[in-house]
Amino acid sequence: MTTLLVTGGAGFIGSNFARWVLDHTDAGVTVLDALTYAGNRANLDGLDPARLNFVHGSIADPALLDDLVADHDVVVHFAAESHNDNSLDGPAIFVETNIVGTYHVLQAVRQHGKRLHHISTDEVYGDLELDDPAKFTRTTPYNPSSPYSASKAASDHLVRAWVRSFGVQATLSNCSNNYGPRQHIEKFIPRQITNVIDGIRPKLYGAGLNVRDWIHVDDHNSALWRIIEAGRIGETYLIGADGEKNNREIVELILELMGQPTDAYDHVNDRAGHDLRYAIDAAPLRDELAWSPQYSDIVDGLRSTIDWYRTNEDWWRGAKQATEAKYAAKGQ
Ligand code: NAD
Ligand code: TYD
Repeated sequence: MTTLLVTGGAGFIGSNFARWVLDHTDAGVTVLDALTYAGNRANLDGLDPARLNFVHGSIADPALLDDLVADHDVVVHFAAESHNDNSLDGPAIFVETNIVGTYHVLQAVRQHGKRLHHISTDEVYGDLELDDPAKFTRTTPYNPSSPYSASKAASDHLVRAWVRSFGVQATLSNCSNNYGPRQHIEKFIPRQITNVIDGIRPKLYGAGLNVRDWIHVDDHNSALWRIIEAGRIGETYLIGADGEKNNREIVELILELMGQPTDAYDHVNDRAGHDLRYAIDAAPLRDELAWSPQYSDIVDGLRSTIDWYRTNEDWWRGAKQATEAKYAAKGQ
């Protein structure tokens, strides 16, 4: 049985990945997670304890990493600070976790000669113009805008340097914006869904014309599995599902699916340095690894995501008031 060490596996994507792996493969998973505000032990509830082991700890702890990496075949590295808005308010932890934390992961896989897959974001490439037909590709120059995306860019560079200089067996992926169950309600889509549930009008930054390329988290996870199985060492794979929509279109869809008038939203203060548009060219991933997404229609994915937040109010209720208070203090 292949054994995976999944850092950040109690967060949004990592916990959905652990679930996906247990459902679709016979691998065993150990989650290493520091349970920051974004991590939730309950995200792993119901998973078979014979195949899922949870360790509460940090990637900032080299001795712990050393022990865990020694005992596993593959390290799948999700652990990060992940929210752009937070990185504008307090960038230090982004440098610590995303850059220094990745350094510790790299030193451990180097020491033990273990395979690594590093999870990153398309935001390392900066942004595209709204009217530009171009998409991000493997050769797009790095040009990150925020402390978050800059810290992820730095982590990608470290991984490539450890591959080239030390022969670390690593692959990388840069994915577009994910949506789906168990995403923290500070993020755009779950914030608006839980706002509508609470009778609060959705909040659009600025004019709401910024474009994101949405992918369902399970499509991200099936792509990650293909890369872990068959990806070329040292290669970077861009993951996306041709899901470009501007933020206003997404809010209107959420309102429609939740039975509200589609103009029942507010414009609020824009984000500093707000990236205009992200778009992924995933042709190499589709062609080289024969991957394709299952969620071809964001309406279906949004409908099931809305259902999940409606059914799992206990999961998010505790964080709602503080999250909205933080945004309100910034006029957002
Ligand atoms: P998340 O914020 O929901 O989860 C991050 C997890 O990492 C949490 O469980 C947290 O407790 C854990 N963590 C933080 N610091 C840690 C530390 N020092 N040691 C161990 N665990 C720690 O984030 P997410 O949205 O699931 O993103 C996961 C990864 O995917 C990140 O690397 C992110 O950059 C990348 N990514 C996210 C998206 C997206 O749309 N959310 C898109 C592309 C890439
Ligand atoms: P977010 O989920 O924070 O992801 P990212 O910054 O990684 O793209 O935001 C997605 C988009 O939604 C982004 O353009 C910012 C915008 N946004 C809003 O318009 N309103 C909100 O309340 C939030 C949280 C984000």
